[in-house]
Amino acid sequence: MTDLDGLVVAARDVRERAYAPFSGFFVGAALSAGGHVFTGVNIENVSYPLSVCAERNAVAAMVTAGERRVEAVAVVTDAPTPTPPCGGCRQVLSEFAGPDTVVAAQTLAGRRAEWTVAGLLPDAFTFDR
Ligand code: THU
Repeated sequence: MTDLDGLVVAARDVRERAYAPFSGFFVGAALSAGGHVFTGVNIENVSYPLSVCAERNAVAAMVTAGERRVEAVAVVTDAPTPTPPCGGCRQVLSEFAGPDTVVAAQTLAGRRAEWTVAGLLPDAFTFDR
């Protein structure tokens, strides 16, 4: 069972460590896997395309720790409406999550939206041939 509220708190707390001097858009992500919580923040670079989203950094932390199955995801931003993962992060999440895995996004003001991975990325590309 996944504690979505706990993931949102973890994402909100870690968001403060985001390195986003170019966009000013701070993103915190937290995911549960194997009974642990892994977090990530967006890390930007003066060479803009080298910036990495919070969700992908959370996935990197998970895989580095030896886990490979995302159970649930939370994303927190200070946008007026909840921020869904970008297209690239949807693809990366779908690599390690099931189609029914829940992705929750919450604003600092407390607005929340929830999706499933399949809802965010229907007809995902896989390596099945
Ligand atoms: N960003 C994320 O970290 N996650 C998303 O899903 C959307 C965008 C970051 C990338 C960049 O550092 C900043 O937000 C503005 O796009």
